[in-house]
Amino acid sequence: MIIYKAKDYKDMSRKAANIISAQVIMKPDCVLGLATGSTPIGAYEQLIEWYKKGDLDFSAVTSVNLDEYKGLSGDNDQSYRYFMQHNLFDHVNIDPKSTHVPNGTEADSAKECQRYEDLIQSLGGVDLQLLGLGHNGHIGFNEPCDFFETMTHCVDLTQSTIDANARFFATKDEVPTQAYTMGIKTIMQAHKILVVVSGEDKADIVKRAFFGPVTPQVPASILQMHNNVVLVGDEAALSKVDL
Ligand code: F6R
Repeated sequence: MIIYKAKDYKDMSRKAANIISAQVIMKPDCVLGLATGSTPIGAYEQLIEWYKKGDLDFSAVTSVNLDEYKGLSGDNDQSYRYFMQHNLFDHVNIDPKSTHVPNGTEADSAKECQRYEDLIQSLGGVDLQLLGLGHNGHIGFNEPCDFFETMTHCVDLTQSTIDANARFFATKDEVPTQAYTMGIKTIMQAHKILVVVSGEDKADIVKRAFFGPVTPQVPASILQMHNNVVLVGDEAALSKVDL
């Protein structure tokens, strides 16, 4: 694993964007695995800036996102499709037909998970997968568990996640209780993995995930078994590891 220590969030975002843009420049028709959450937003902003300057071209890129809430359509502002449109896709020249997010409106979980898994295979796999890291070590919606869930699957959200999300919805019935997510094997099959972490609140989990035992209780720890992982963290997030 290669670890890049950044000064702060802005520097982390720039370093991560550099790695993503190197991928796009070296293989213009690459498949990018993308993530939502707060951590990658700065990297997406940097990519947009470089695109607007004429330094990047996304016209041949294909993207596949990690996850999506089941039951939400792309025009719901809490959906991950909406997040991606708003934070990246609407601002660069990626072909809308080449951007893929699990379909939250598909009620048949088995069907949607198989479709998404087949799609990734048909694209020849993911060249570069971007990941954020949850405080409990989750990646995508792969939460701590007794075993590694391998393929794209439908997850029951924990009550605490459902309660935390409730404030974003007008009524309780609208709050998603399930999500579709790439599985651990789906993620591990990416040729290269880029993990972004920022903030002191991530320092403990960075240490457990990348320097502790490999266990499904810390899903990100499996990344220690991947031979091409780059971790970009700011000083605060890397403050508990010796580098
Ligand atoms: C996002 C995702 C999540 C986040 C993780 C970290 O698509 O799958 O696993 O990467 O929850 O979120 P932030 O970056 O908000 O700390």
